[in-house]
Amino acid sequence: MKRMIRVALITSGGDCQGLNAAIRGVGKALYEKLDNVEIFGMYDGYRGLIESDYKFMTPKDFSGILTEGGTILGTSRQRYIPGKDIVDEDGNSLIPAMKDTYNRLNLDCLVIMGGNGTQKSAKLISDAGMNVVTLPKTIDNDIYGTDTTFGFQSAVDIATNVIDYIHSTASSHSRIFVVELMGRDAGWLTLNAGIASGADVILIPEIPYDLNKVAQLIEERKKKGRSFSIVACAEGAVSKDDAVLDEEARRRLKEDASYPTVSYKIAAQLEALTGQETRVTVPGHYQRGGPPCPYDRVLATQFGTAAAELIINRQYNRMVAIQNGEICSIPLEEAASRTKFLPVDHPMIQVARDLGICMGD
Ligand code: F6P
Repeated sequence: MKRMIRVALITSGGDCQGLNAAIRGVGKALYEKLDNVEIFGMYDGYRGLIESDYKFMTPKDFSGILTEGGTILGTSRQRYIPGKDIVDEDGNSLIPAMKDTYNRLNLDCLVIMGGNGTQKSAKLISDAGMNVVTLPKTIDNDIYGTDTTFGFQSAVDIATNVIDYIHSTASSHSRIFVVELMGRDAGWLTLNAGIASGADVILIPEIPYDLNKVAQLIEERKKKGRSFSIVACAEGAVSKDDAVLDEEARRRLKEDASYPTVSYKIAAQLEALTGQETRVTVPGHYQRGGPPCPYDRVLATQFGTAAAELIINRQYNRMVAIQNGEICSIPLEEAASRTKFLPVDHPMIQVARDLGICMGD
């Protein structure tokens, strides 16, 4: 009798496009390659593992989901104490309950699909003695050790489309528009969508902004007969003045803020500086919704089948990745070690500058 492999699938953290394509990639490849496999789908991310809330997944569960947005398993966020623990509201560790489910189901491995935070918490789970294979997913593209993540390209497509549409109305009314895109810590999405849609200004968390510089660019455009301007602004964009504050002072500033988000503040300040009517558009979670674009369908499928291969070869505690166009895997320890911020000397930033796009500095 051939060895039985038991695997549990988990989608954790913020959802994104391509999760179902990845689930399908793992499940189909395992059923295709193994005679003896049992696959469990944990509901709502780690919650399912903690509370033993799961379903047994047959080959049929992996059909017809390639193009579906979201995750058929549901997802949730857990409280994570950096490098230390995953805890409930009272601060009690949730790892023992996870291990209990893992042992009771006699699992060989957990397949965890998640973003930057999930990679870090998956490392704690592997440190606690559970075998783990992870897949990098997020619209933020900020996971270390992989050139890109699934979800990112779909979000770039949507964000680009939003700015494309804003162009015509901005032009008709000769207005400034601040379009706020997702990305609390990393500017990959805003930079790419900004370049793809011909934004005039791109503000990202990695380059603190000076609005006088932005206003200057807008005035220059007006002199050249360009009566409207588009500012693509990441939700984590920060002014030069605020960037030097410590974490506590920045948190207090956020609490006191009279504007719902940074783009409203920027819009008010730009209107005051330029005298030009200014509007804000925030597509928000729309950027994470809907079907994955073809690129993400392919990437998520490749990641899924690569994860199956790792499981079959018992190569655990690794994250599937793509580096220089090649699918590979790296130690989870490495992937979880840091966040992949957008380097300020990245060639794409130079491309933006070469086009005369103002990066706010
Ligand atoms: O990490 C993905 C992301 O969409 C970020 O870009 C954004 O800051 C955050 O999640 C929003 O989180 P939530 O879905 O919990 O509102």
